[in-house]
Amino acid sequence: MKTVSTLFDLRAARLSLYGTVGLVPTMGYLHEGHLSLIRRAKLECDSVAVSIFVNPTQFGANEDLSKYPRDLTRDLSLIEPLGVDLVWNPTPEIMYPAGYQTWVEVEAMTRPLEGAMRPEHFKGVTTVVTKLFNAIQPHKAYFGQKDAQQAAVIRQMVRDLNFPLEVIVCPTTREADGLAMSSRNKYLEGADRPAATILFHALSAAKSAYEGGERNAEKLREIMKVTLAAEPRAQMQYVSCADYDTLEELDMVSGKTLLSMAVLLGKTRLIDNFVLG
Ligand code: PAJ
Repeated sequence: MKTVSTLFDLRAARLSLYGTVGLVPTMGYLHEGHLSLIRRAKLECDSVAVSIFVNPTQFGANEDLSKYPRDLTRDLSLIEPLGVDLVWNPTPEIMYPAGYQTWVEVEAMTRPLEGAMRPEHFKGVTTVVTKLFNAIQPHKAYFGQKDAQQAAVIRQMVRDLNFPLEVIVCPTTREADGLAMSSRNKYLEGADRPAATILFHALSAAKSAYEGGERNAEKLREIMKVTLAAEPRAQMQYVSCADYDTLEELDMVSGKTLLSMAVLLGKTRLIDNFVLG
């Protein structure tokens, strides 16, 4: 496994990769969710590249950039046994040198949900992912369903900008009690950790109603709200029942649908989602 930082070293290492290349972009502090993406890439591609970069431009001014957990040594020891060929770990100065001024922005579908709570977030994500795609030129890129809006936005960007690659969206990896794995779960303190399963329970309740024939989107949103309200530690930010591709809120559920939510537990912000249909 080759670990590089500079663009010069990355280019040389990329040229030596054999066959089809799969890229797994990450911000590090890897957990089983990230590893599931890497294992999938390993199954489907001849060579696998992983990027580890805590991208400053996708964090808002009052978000957790400086606190974001980092442990490169641990990350490398977790991915080496999976047979990763190349790790790119650039510095912020390499990604955004002095005078940097070019941005990639996806419009309507970045406005609701996470975009409404985190106005500059997706502009940072689409810009850094574009830079990763350009530098590594993968044939396939792997993203988690856990960040459903991010995955939808990147699929849209790849279509709109004709990136010659396939976006693969992989299922959410969960703890035994249903909590979606996330680098931010380590912030959950004391009773907030067991309480965090409320997101999974709220999504499960709406899914059961859907499976029982409920197609009214407002009813499904209501079921999620009521379930969340039963957990006093949880403070709902949004619940949504939206079209899977456009992320527009629905009146009636017919095709592929995204149930999603953001919830505060103490100071920790959690997101989760289920796909219906
Ligand atoms: P990060 O939060 O490190 O996540 C990297 C990838 O792992 C994302 O595609 C995310 O959806 C996926 N992932 C996270 N938790 C998961 C889980 N429980 N199950 C399955 N997949 C999971 O997402 C980012 O980094 C950044 O925004 C990035 C795309 C790297 C751009 O900076």
